[in-house]
Amino acid sequence: MTSLSSGMMWRGLIESYRAHLPVSEQTPVISLCEGNTPLVYAPRLAAHFAPDCELYLKFEGANPTGSFKDRGMTMAVSKAAEDGAKVAICASTGNTSAAAAAYCAVAGIRCVVLIPNNNIALGKLAQAMVSGATVLAIEGNFDDGLRIVKDLTANYPIAMLNSLNPYRLEGQKTGAFEVCDFLGFAPDFHFIPVGNAGNITAYWKGYREYHELGKIETLPKMCGFQAAGAAPLVLGHGVDAPETVATAIRIGHPARAEEALRARDESGGLIDSVTDEEILLAQRETAALSGIFGEPACAAPLAGIKKLNAQGYFAQARQELGRKPVVVSVVTGHGLKDPNTAIRISGSPTVVPAKNESVLKAIGF
Ligand code: F0G
Repeated sequence: MTSLSSGMMWRGLIESYRAHLPVSEQTPVISLCEGNTPLVYAPRLAAHFAPDCELYLKFEGANPTGSFKDRGMTMAVSKAAEDGAKVAICASTGNTSAAAAAYCAVAGIRCVVLIPNNNIALGKLAQAMVSGATVLAIEGNFDDGLRIVKDLTANYPIAMLNSLNPYRLEGQKTGAFEVCDFLGFAPDFHFIPVGNAGNITAYWKGYREYHELGKIETLPKMCGFQAAGAAPLVLGHGVDAPETVATAIRIGHPARAEEALRARDESGGLIDSVTDEEILLAQRETAALSGIFGEPACAAPLAGIKKLNAQGYFAQARQELGRKPVVVSVVTGHGLKDPNTAIRISGSPTVVPAKNESVLKAIGF
């Protein structure tokens, strides 16, 4: 299926980065014109969080289903369609299921999603339901769901849409291409939330490929952040009962753990954790100081930037580079996906009579 658009219109990431992706003329392109998301310069946020940095936010909430998952899903569903798949499945903390449901709707593939019962954000549940996917709320967590998906896809003609599917990472690596194409160079540091560890793996792949092609001269240090209650890569062992307000990254046994640790070590970066309190504060401060409203998971690396800056991490880099380091943090999902948490942390509006004087009084004029 090809888009009817032409000329200067963005036609989605497969058409834009075709030369870098495992697609051919035979691949039906299943696209919602994902990608080309804003890289937003955030000087007020930097002044507050990390004055030693030039800070940019890659706002993946601007994708069609509101998260970075659309990048992987355009590739995974296109390849499933090429293979003639009739049914596809994923386990999800919410965003993967929203993207899978939408792209399968485009392709006409039946979509089955396994979500942890009572533990995904409201907007994500609405997305999967409204797109007509078969939504099964399992009495278990993401890790339980992924185990079932692995077993079923190994034994039945059902396409796997989790990031164990290598095409997912191929699509997601284009986030790194866009960062470099926009800046004209690679950032010094790349910050990212880590759950199942597919995205950090994909970004590192993207940066390395651009480096090998000579499109960038340097590589960023990859800095991943987990929530303290779901931090297997920081602890060095799996977590059987992960818990965090950032439900998107409530994962105790990441499928791409080894690749994530390799990205960290090859790049000279780090993987660390922040508490739920730090996450919620950073979420609110980011919205208030940059205008970018991400869901809680996206605030983990931002809280991490704040924490590392306080430890002098960037001051040292600034001294070594002789300029402020350029830092990119990926805002992986839109804040509107989880309105309940946002309202809970922000409080209620002040109710006033519908009169000029009441409004003036309330704002202190
Ligand atoms: N940020 C958001 C908003 C996510 O939804 C996820 C993962 C991550 C970060 C972490 O990315 O897993 O590649 O390390 N969400 C998956 C899902 C697990 O099912 O939607 P990762």
